[in-house]
Amino acid sequence: MKRNLFALFTAMLCLICLAFAGCADVPSDETPDDPSEPDAGHDVLVVYFSATGNTEGVAEIIADDTGADIWEIEAADPYTEEDLAYYTGGRADREQDDETCRPEIAGTVADFAEYDTVFIGHPIWHGIAPRIIQTFLESYDFADKTVYTFSTSASSSGNGAFNALKREYPEINFIENLHFTSSQLSSAEGRVEAWLSELGLTGRSA
Ligand SMILES: Cc1cc2nc3c(=O)[nH]c(=O)nc-3n(C[C@H](O)[C@H](O)[C@H](O)COP(=O)(O)O)c2cc1C
Repeated sequence: MKRNLFALFTAMLCLICLAFAGCADVPSDETPDDPSEPDAGHDVLVVYFSATGNTEGVAEIIADDTGADIWEIEAADPYTEEDLAYYTGGRADREQDDETCRPEIAGTVADFAEYDTVFIGHPIWHGIAPRIIQTFLESYDFADKTVYTFSTSASSSGNGAFNALKREYPEINFIENLHFTSSQLSSAEGRVEAWLSELGLTGRSA
């Protein structure tokens, strides 16, 4: 009899413990954080190629203002100063003259599919985007993505490059380009802020 009472008592104790453990569980309508998944607040990606740092500066401002993730497009074979000396017949000049050239990119963007808005930044090379931007556009699936571009140059406008990208990739949903000549870079923060606020993207994922 004593043994039966003890068994009953132990069973009840176990049931009480299980009930408390259940209360400590994550509520059924919440899912625990999965660090491998960007959360709902991180659906904006800023991607940029920058050989001498100008476009990078703008990319950082956009990423800061939107709270977006940022990824640099780096050439698998990095550009040297000599490669970049333009109108000398150097590497960059030859690449821009060759419509089929697609310089290889080092690395890949993790979880590209998780982003719904992508900003793509680049310098202007010979009036258009560097060929490596085309490598990037042809390496990922842009279906259902909204794409903004931004560009920097010594003095050229960014319109020619933006229109060329839209013509070349009609399947990509390019919305707008924000361009800076070198003399406009000092006012980049204010212009980026105004642009993002016009797009309704300021602090969207901060
Ligand atoms: C190969 C090459 C071609 C360029 N072509 C032009 C051009 O057509 N028009 C222009 O205004 N600037 C041109 N530039 C200057 C860059 O667009 C400008 O310095 C830009 O801000 C560089 O950006 P980054 O520092 O992000 O690389 C060229 C630069 C290079 C290296």
